[in-house]
Amino acid sequence: MTETSPVIAGGGTGAAISYRPVRADELAECAEVWRDGINDYTRRLNQPDVPPETASLLRLYAHLQSTDPERFVVATMPSAETAGGERIVAFAAAVMRERLWFLSMLFVRPGLQGAGLGRALLARVAPADGEASFRATATDSAQPISNALYASAGIVPRIPLLNFIGLPQDPAAFGTLPSGIVPTAFAQLVGEPGGEGHQRLAGAVDALDREVLGVAHPADHRFLRQENRTGWLYRGPDGATEGYGYASEAGRIGPVAVRDPALLAPILGHLTSAVIPRGAFALWLPGTADRAVVPALRSGFRLDQFPVLLCWDQPFADLTRYLPISPGLL
Ligand SMILES: CC(C)(COP(=O)(O)OP(=O)(O)OC[C@H]1O[C@@H](n2cnc3c(N)ncnc32)[C@H](O)[C@@H]1OP(=O)(O)O)[C@@H](O)C(=O)NCCC(=O)NCCS
Repeated sequence: MTETSPVIAGGGTGAAISYRPVRADELAECAEVWRDGINDYTRRLNQPDVPPETASLLRLYAHLQSTDPERFVVATMPSAETAGGERIVAFAAAVMRERLWFLSMLFVRPGLQGAGLGRALLARVAPADGEASFRATATDSAQPISNALYASAGIVPRIPLLNFIGLPQDPAAFGTLPSGIVPTAFAQLVGEPGGEGHQRLAGAVDALDREVLGVAHPADHRFLRQENRTGWLYRGPDGATEGYGYASEAGRIGPVAVRDPALLAPILGHLTSAVIPRGAFALWLPGTADRAVVPALRSGFRLDQFPVLLCWDQPFADLTRYLPISPGLL
């Protein structure tokens, strides 16, 4: 359903803005809004443009839209220059994972910012009353507008999410897995005799997610498999699940979840040795996961970019024991 708002103040257009769920063939146009919105302020900070390559971003958008189509909303304006007679000027994408509402993306085209579009989109993708127990997002620390906008709705910046890039020059800095903790690739577990490998694995992963992230998110684990991230389950001598972690040849590490924070570093050591990336590894570490941050630096990883800020209204996750997928998807 499309709804049209009254004329907006400011922004210099005076044109009516319409809001509706995105169509799958409009995701590339949303990526343009994303790129323009970011480059507009990073250029002012003398930072490099975001890379022009948007294939992995478009796959994330497609995943967000496929799981929560009503929460991926675009703002459009009439345009004589496009075949459809309108152009996308802003968009927001949020997901519900059990009781957790997570805002993945909110971007407004430069020139139309500060005119209320961001706040209007936020209201349209927000959870209904009583639908969510926790609301969270990740913001750019260099961006006061988004931090102020979400904080005014109670979603306050709480901890940094640090971006690490590199290859382990000194893998020993991560330490080794304690004896008795055995990694098994998800693919191998699924193939284990008994026929219930997949359900058993999903049950173990969901239980650990509920313990450390506060919610299970099996749809996102399916997405990770499509993204060719290889998962490992780490089990103790009694067969109990002690953690899981993912790595991919594209260099992405995460998510990682552990029962004991002491396992974070050795699991990173295992993941960065089990997969040979085509380039460098990239991973996002909450500042609270110091048991991973310190060894990552000592092993030779470098901090990249400004930190992102994780924001929430009510505490929901134990971020000493969970490393997220990315700032766009916990
Ligand atoms: C961030 C963004 C999505 C916000 O959308 P927007 O349409 O510009 O924002 P709005 O006009 O709806 O609302 C901004 C609110 O923040 C307030 N605000 C702006 N700067 C502020 C500051 N420095 N301190 C306190 N409040 C501030 C505004 O007063 C406004 O509040 P109000 O509705 O009570 O008046 C948009 O500016 C954008 O796309 N920016 C570039 C890309 C980006 O940074 N995206 C987010 C990455 S995390």
